Amino acid sequence: MTTDWRQVDTGWGRAAADFATLSEPANCREYTAMHHRLRIDDGDRLLDIACGAGLALELAALRGAGCAGIDASPRLVAVARDRSPQADIRVGDMTDLPWPDGSFDVATSFRGIWGTTEAAVAELYRVLRPGGRAGITVWGHLKLSPGAWALAPFRLAAPPALAHQAAMVALGRPGVGEELLTRHGFIDVRRVDVPFAWEFPDPGGYARALASTGPAYEAIQHVGETAFHDAARAAAAERVRAGLPLRALIAVTGFLAVKP
Ligand SMILES: C[S@@+](CC[C@H](N)C(=O)[O-])C[C@H]1O[C@@H](n2cnc3c(N)ncnc32)[C@H](O)[C@@H]1O
Repeated sequence: MTTDWRQVDTGWGRAAADFATLSEPANCREYTAMHHRLRIDDGDRLLDIACGAGLALELAALRGAGCAGIDASPRLVAVARDRSPQADIRVGDMTDLPWPDGSFDVATSFRGIWGTTEAAVAELYRVLRPGGRAGITVWGHLKLSPGAWALAPFRLAAPPALAHQAAMVALGRPGVGEELLTRHGFIDVRRVDVPFAWEFPDPGGYARALASTGPAYEAIQHVGETAFHDAARAAAAERVRAGLPLRALIAVTGFLAVKP
């Protein structure tokens, strides 16, 4: 667990190519659904906050947006720049965005802004122009998600890291995200269900994909790489279906809002 953005790359960046190719592509339903709801179109100036390896930016550019992004992990940003050389993608902290007020028509963040990163909401608001649209996603009700098993190995992290993870996902609880966005000046705040399904070829593929994420690193620090992979493969082995990929449907909540 870290609260210093400069340390984020230790976990999130250490397997950047794995994350970009084995984990992130399964988020495409989420990106596409939010871009559609935000009506991303030709000429929109779009910022993606905590852009990771930049697949969402690449997809927004296909809709005609001029793209910018920021992430704390230099190794994920390197992938994002490789994918979108024309975009303005920076390494930095979402609570101190390096763009002037009113720079963007649209700002997104996919599971990047959490209950623990309230200052990022103030920055999101600042860099939007009046009338600008915001769309952020967070994990929804995980315990009720059929694919909750796919996140279970994260619980191997040490108790302080687990407590931090729980505080992060609090934003998805009823009324919490709405209150936060309204308090920061947003209007027309709406909660939407966002489609989200992770898919993997087999338990080994799932374990490798999951191990490339930041929360997995917290678990690996606590129990070691071998125990993490063993637990992940065991969780997935029970879900194997002949001839079909492993599929984990997970509840994701989206918030849409407008800067007046
Ligand atoms: C759950 S991932 C989401 C990444 C990406 N949005 C996606 O959909 O794959 C969280 C991301 O937040 C980034 N991050 C964490 N703390 C940050 C901070 N203070 N400023 C900027 N990015 C941060 C991590 O490097 C990571 O890429």
